[in-house]
Amino acid sequence: MLDLLYRDIAPDLLKVEEEIRATLESPVPAIASLLEVSGRYGGKRMRPALVFLVAREAGGVCEGHARLGAVVELIHLATLVHDDVIDVATMRRRQETVNVRHGNYEAVLLGDIIFSRAIHLLARLGNRRALLALTQAVSTVCEGEILQNRHRQDPDLDEATYYTIISGKTAELYAGATGLAAHLAGANEAMVEAFAFYGLKLGIAFQIVDDCLDVVGVEEQVGKSLGTDLRNGKMTLPLLILRERADAATGALLRRVILGEADVGDEAQLNRAVRESGALDEAVRRAAAHVEAGLAAVRAVCGCDSPALAAVGRYVLERSL
Ligand code: IPE
Ligand code: IPE
Ligand code: MG
Ligand code: MG
Repeated sequence: MLDLLYRDIAPDLLKVEEEIRATLESPVPAIASLLEVSGRYGGKRMRPALVFLVAREAGGVCEGHARLGAVVELIHLATLVHDDVIDVATMRRRQETVNVRHGNYEAVLLGDIIFSRAIHLLARLGNRRALLALTQAVSTVCEGEILQNRHRQDPDLDEATYYTIISGKTAELYAGATGLAAHLAGANEAMVEAFAFYGLKLGIAFQIVDDCLDVVGVEEQVGKSLGTDLRNGKMTLPLLILRERADAATGALLRRVILGEADVGDEAQLNRAVRESGALDEAVRRAAAHVEAGLAAVRAVCGCDSPALAAVGRYVLERSL
C-alpha cells in the first residue's frame, strides 16, 4: 500500500535519504556506529512523504522540500530514540532499540545528537518560518510526553487531556511537516493553515491507530515493542471507550491494570475485553472522523479533493505496521 502511495515521489524520497545519510555521518567510530540507528529498515518515512504530497497540491516541489523532509524525519527519529528509553521498549524498526544495544546513557545522548543535527540542518534550510515553527514543535512534542507521564496510572484520564497529549507528542510534528511544505511551495496563508490542520488531524488519527495497534498489533509485523502502553499504565482512546462501555467487573479490571495492581492474567483479560467490546472499531471510527475533517479543510481552500492526501488518510486508518 505504501509503495503505491510513494511511487510518484520516489525520486524525491531518495533525496531525503541522501540528506539524512549525510547529516548522520561521523568520523568518530563510536558515534558512527551509534548513528546507524536508521539501519536497513528506516521506518515508513510518512512525514517526508507528506512533505512532497502536500507540496504537489500546494504549488509544486522546490529545492527546500527534501531538506524539510529530512529535518522532520530526523526530529521524529530523535524522539523515537528517547521514547524507547522512556517506554523501556526493546524493539524498534525491526531491530533491538538503542537503549537495549547501548544502554540508556548513550541512548539519551544519541537522541540529543540527532536532535541537534536536525536543528543544524534546519538552520541550513534558511527559512525563518520553518525554524520558528519546528523548534516550537520540538518543545510541544516534549510537553506532550511530559503530560502523558503525569497521567500514567491515571484510570480517570479524560478524553480532552488524551487529545492534548497526542496532539502534542505526535500531531504537532505532522502539522509542521504539512504546513511548512505548503509554505515552501509558495502557498498563501489560508492554504498553509489548511494543510497544517490536515497534518494535525492526520497525526491525531495516526496516533489513535498506533494506540490500537499497541493492543492488537503483531510485533513481528509492526516491527516494534507493543503492549507497552498498558504495561506503563497509559490510558489510550480504546481504553477510554472501553471504560464508557464496561460493566463493573471490567471497569475494576481496567483500574487494576492501569494502577499497576494487576493480578496474573489480568492484562490478557483486559486485552480480550478491548478486542471484544468493539472499542477498537469505535476508536478507528473516531480516527476516521479526524482524517475527514482534515481533508475537508484542504478541500475548502483548494476547491477540490486531493486523491493523494485522501489515500494517505486511508492508509493511516488501515495500516497494520
Ligand atoms: C511511531 O511513528 C511513533 C508514533 C508517532 C506513533 P511511526 O509509526 O511513523 O514510526 P516509523 O518512522 O515508521 O518507524
Ligand atoms: C509516540 O508514542 C511517541 C512519540 C511521538 C515520540 P508511542 O510511545 O505510542 O510510540 P511507539 O508506539 O513507541 O512508536
Ligand atoms: Mg513508545
Ligand atoms: Mg505506541
